Amino acid sequence: MTAFWDSLYSGAARNIKPSPIRDMLQSCRKPGMISFAGGMPDPAIFPVEQFAEAASILRTEGRDILQYGATEGYAPLKDFLASWCAPRLGRKVDSDEMLITSGSIQGADLMTMATLNPGEYVITEAPTFLGVTTDMYNHGAKFLCVPCDEEGMLVDRLPALIEGARSEGKTVKFIYTIATFQNPCGATMSLERRKALVRIAREYGVAIFEDDPYGYVRFDGEHLPTLFSLDGGEHVIYAGSFSKILAPGTRVGWCCGDRDLIRKMVVFKQGVDTCTSVVAQALVYQYAKLGHLDAFLPKIIGHYRAKRDVMMESFAEYLPAGEARYTKPEGGFFFWLETPNIPVDALFDQAIARNVAVVKGVPFYPNGDGGDHHCRVCFTFASADAIREGVKRLGDAMRELL
Ligand SMILES: Cc1ncc(COP(=O)(O)O)c(C=O)c1O
Repeated sequence: MTAFWDSLYSGAARNIKPSPIRDMLQSCRKPGMISFAGGMPDPAIFPVEQFAEAASILRTEGRDILQYGATEGYAPLKDFLASWCAPRLGRKVDSDEMLITSGSIQGADLMTMATLNPGEYVITEAPTFLGVTTDMYNHGAKFLCVPCDEEGMLVDRLPALIEGARSEGKTVKFIYTIATFQNPCGATMSLERRKALVRIAREYGVAIFEDDPYGYVRFDGEHLPTLFSLDGGEHVIYAGSFSKILAPGTRVGWCCGDRDLIRKMVVFKQGVDTCTSVVAQALVYQYAKLGHLDAFLPKIIGHYRAKRDVMMESFAEYLPAGEARYTKPEGGFFFWLETPNIPVDALFDQAIARNVAVVKGVPFYPNGDGGDHHCRVCFTFASADAIREGVKRLGDAMRELL
């Protein structure tokens, strides 16, 4: 049958890339493995009881929420979110400026479908979240990448980058950014750079997709305004998610932005999944309405702050002195570990042999041109004891290779 199907595949299917992270996660499913690999919340603090309580909405609204729903999203959830997100978005968005998505990754997918022709360019941070860029690649996207430092994307490089691309006849459609607690590098874009980014994007007629699944998970420091909320933010599409602040199994996210673009995304979504699970949306809504979302946030922030600190302390204690570079993230899920004298392929193999998993850095560079001495280390999933033990094993792996 292989030859038969081979003859039928589309050009896109012939070039399709699976998510490198999904493949890597397979190797982490061994018994005894300590995983710092997936960007996963800690299941130990999932609000199972509160979610079960919210499920009572099935008794009262079951006939409605077991039916197909509007592609735009479950109206009570959208109303709730418009108010709940207003402080972060700078205003209360209208219903037709918001679309409920099946995870925020679907928001990026629909944005890509609505704006990008194969061969056109997206500007990203380097490194950036490979789940989204792999999907964009599978839609035919090409990438221009801008390095990051501790203050996020080096936005002053953008004008020359865009002008250079245009002079070569390339079309740049939008900038994909994780401005807050970046995945994988943990950086948060400074206010000055946020303003510059929005200004430059407007000047050059390029849109921005602001992916913000970690924004509410801040451990230290002050919240910074989202790009969406800044002057000139009309060119910004904002994506939020319940994955990191409630549970990724809900698969409920949201997108806010220009109503015409949202409408196009709605029409694409009709063909993708008709609507995000109405049952899931209704449960999330009821959970939030009962006050559990607001009560849970400080709990996860405290829980993950403590884990970040355990990982920092373990790095200092167990990694060979002077051989690992990292900065302390003020929020989010990740450390971005640089091992200048150890190639990540070797480190990964040694770590796996010791039953500890990280994610190699290279796939976080959409053009594959960096990350060979970097790995992403997630601190939220493993227990505090497992973090200590896992970092100790990582230190042993590094010593073996030095
Ligand atoms: C930056 C970023 N965007 C999107 C996602 C996917 O989120 P969701 O589960 O809402 O699709 C993740 C998950 O790890 C992420 O880190």
